[in-house]
Amino acid sequence: MADTTDTKSSNQMWGGRFASGPDAIMEEINASIGFDKKLFAQDIRGSIAHATMLAHQGIISADDKDKIVHGLNTILSEIESGNFEFSRRLEDIHMNIEARLATLIGPAAGRLHTARSRNDQVALDFRLWVKEELEKTEKMLTGLIAAFLDRAEEHAESVMPGFTHLQTAQPVTFGHHCMAYVEMFGRDRSRVRHAIEHLDESPIGAAALAGTGYPIDRHMTAKALGFREPTRNSIDTVSDRDFAIEFLSIAAITGMHLSRLAEEIVIWSTPQFGFVRLSDAFSTGSSIMPQKKNPDAAELVRAKTGRINGSLVALLTIMKGLPLAYSKDMQEDKEQVFDAAESLELAIAAMTGMVRDLTVNTARMKAAAGSGFSTATDLADWLVREAGLPFRDAHHVTGRAVALAESKGCDLAELPLADLQAIHPDITDKVYDVLTVEASVASRKSFGGTAPSEVRRQIAFWRARN
Ligand code: ARG
Repeated sequence: MADTTDTKSSNQMWGGRFASGPDAIMEEINASIGFDKKLFAQDIRGSIAHATMLAHQGIISADDKDKIVHGLNTILSEIESGNFEFSRRLEDIHMNIEARLATLIGPAAGRLHTARSRNDQVALDFRLWVKEELEKTEKMLTGLIAAFLDRAEEHAESVMPGFTHLQTAQPVTFGHHCMAYVEMFGRDRSRVRHAIEHLDESPIGAAALAGTGYPIDRHMTAKALGFREPTRNSIDTVSDRDFAIEFLSIAAITGMHLSRLAEEIVIWSTPQFGFVRLSDAFSTGSSIMPQKKNPDAAELVRAKTGRINGSLVALLTIMKGLPLAYSKDMQEDKEQVFDAAESLELAIAAMTGMVRDLTVNTARMKAAAGSGFSTATDLADWLVREAGLPFRDAHHVTGRAVALAESKGCDLAELPLADLQAIHPDITDKVYDVLTVEASVASRKSFGGTAPSEVRRQIAFWRARN
């Protein structure tokens, strides 16, 4: 950014009643151009729609409108091609563009700000930006869900240990585990869709806070800018940042999901677990320990989540004490959202790549699935079903079988029939059919369960919705 600091003259855009310019520190704390220049395209789009409406309503002449639109398009290509000099003295993106417009087209530029204020202007620009970001997030989540659906399909039958308390619980399929993430990211995506619906109202025309005496048509600008309708209350319009907070809330929840996935990948890729191997593309080596393959990308996704949470808390805190309507505090909304958006995009992209690329060690998963007496519940269920025991008694009998296997250092399926019969006489050799991990998962056909047939049904459900 060109440093055009000039403390001598008052601001040319609003300096009419100020005798001298701002102190250098004032300028530094006040300026937002360093970050809100990101909103240039939205600002120009908004101004073109506003000027077009003003001319349509006879508030400015068609000739001035043409000059304004032409000038704004020139500025757009200047900024896009890197040939625009941003000035901190002009505070923000809105005034940088308007000042340049004045240089380009002369006095007609001064008519653009009729019937609007920077308060509704910034609300518009930022809303447009967040809306586009939400649309991008929706697409990226669809890509992540697609990656999981492919892996789930491939591994609908691959058995792995299911965990609670990170202790082996019951065998599940890797496909089922993948589909759990599809549910999570599917909820995130529907939150994104709801947020797009919530923010789909145009703020422009609320002016400073009270509306305007000019005969503007807010429905016309709303339509031109792709919004469903104009916002209903001008005071709320310039004081509302819910759309930004909703974005950050969604980013925080999605980030929390991504971080849980990252944590699983970190655990699974340790030599001790060895369930998955990360591709070289998503891991790094150690500069000192040649044997290492570190899950850096997953770890950074976990860390980015902390950053996103920070942004959410920051904006909630910025807003919580503000009286209606606009206060300059609200200028601090953008960096939080920009930073969180960048982190979220990176995190989704990295996890999508990792999920697509990782190699699943099915043999290792299967071996782990059978250890830790993971089919104990199947034994108890068999006793209920085949020997007619109440579940609580069956649970007790099974506990004794587990204790015996543990003392012998073997699995339940390796206990001789005589040992099992000594614990309960009604046990027959048919019991071994349910003690394998494959039989265990295949039996769990309840709606939403882990049986391969159920997993395939879940996949079909989501394929139709993705
Ligand atoms: N740069 C300001 C912001 O981001 C624009 C709105 C300024 N409005 C005002 N009345 N000073 O919030």
